[in-house]
Amino acid sequence: MLTDKVALITGAASGIGLAMSQAFREAGCKVVMADVNEEALTREAEKLDALAICADLSLEVECKRLAEVAIEEYGGVDILINVAGIQKVVPIEDFPVDTWDFMIRLMLNAPFYLTKYCWPSMKERGWGRIIHLNSIHGLVASEFKSAYVTAKHGLTGLTKVSALEGGPYGITVNSICPAYVRTPLVDKQIADQAATHGIGEDEVIEKIMLQKASIKKLLEPKTVADVALFLCSDSASQITGITLPIDGGWISA
Ligand SMILES: NC(=O)c1ccc[n+]([C@@H]2O[C@H](COP(=O)([O-])OP(=O)(O)OC[C@H]3O[C@@H](n4cnc5c(N)ncnc54)[C@H](O)[C@@H]3O)[C@@H](O)[C@H]2O)c1
Repeated sequence: MLTDKVALITGAASGIGLAMSQAFREAGCKVVMADVNEEALTREAEKLDALAICADLSLEVECKRLAEVAIEEYGGVDILINVAGIQKVVPIEDFPVDTWDFMIRLMLNAPFYLTKYCWPSMKERGWGRIIHLNSIHGLVASEFKSAYVTAKHGLTGLTKVSALEGGPYGITVNSICPAYVRTPLVDKQIADQAATHGIGEDEVIEKIMLQKASIKKLLEPKTVADVALFLCSDSASQITGITLPIDGGWISA
């Protein structure tokens, strides 16, 4: 059913974005992989026979260029998956203002710009799927993650508004909200916390990161990609506007 659909995936050089690219390629999509890390992007895109577009998505002009090139190369975009993001764990009073600005631009403005610039192509085709790689932090907060939690809560709002506007045109928009996923972004956090607290990495995962979850196990990127595939399937054609937790029971507590 996804054969020959065009999927534009950001943050595609690593972690969840890379797993998404692999999964959608295997499902028969033409995949456009976008990332700022040119070396890793080129290497991974070559393996998947996907189109690589290097772009700094913290800039509006680059988001616009990305959508335009993808549409020009493949005649349109059917599926947009916004994944690119970073994390910064610092108390508010010490939080660098330029980092705050960068994170909001990359993790909230870019998904809006890409939605806006891919929208006419989806509307024209009468079919579109937009998925934001949100987070459990789009639904609940943790201390010291002000920019991250704010950007992700913003995505929750964007998901709902664009779902309302997209319905008449066959465009669905959903957010996936994972707890911790085993990726380079999280591996670094685990190592930092282990050093800070003088405890083992397994203990960091169980007692600090997944303290609020009932299933104390990191998610694998492929699991998140499989959920995205489901949201693009015919079975999910009436699911729109949701923020879907994959959180091992975290927010049930
Ligand atoms: N890993 C987790 O536990 C977890 C949990 C919930 C949500 N998420 C979300 O998933 C997304 C991906 O996280 P990940 O864990 O795969 O991280 P990752 O670090 O493995 O991958 C992030 C990718 O984004 C790219 N990127 C960073 N800045 C960019 C920019 N300016 N322009 C374009 N690309 C840029 C990086 O180069 C990298 O390839 C993020 O939005 C994150 O918030 C991750």
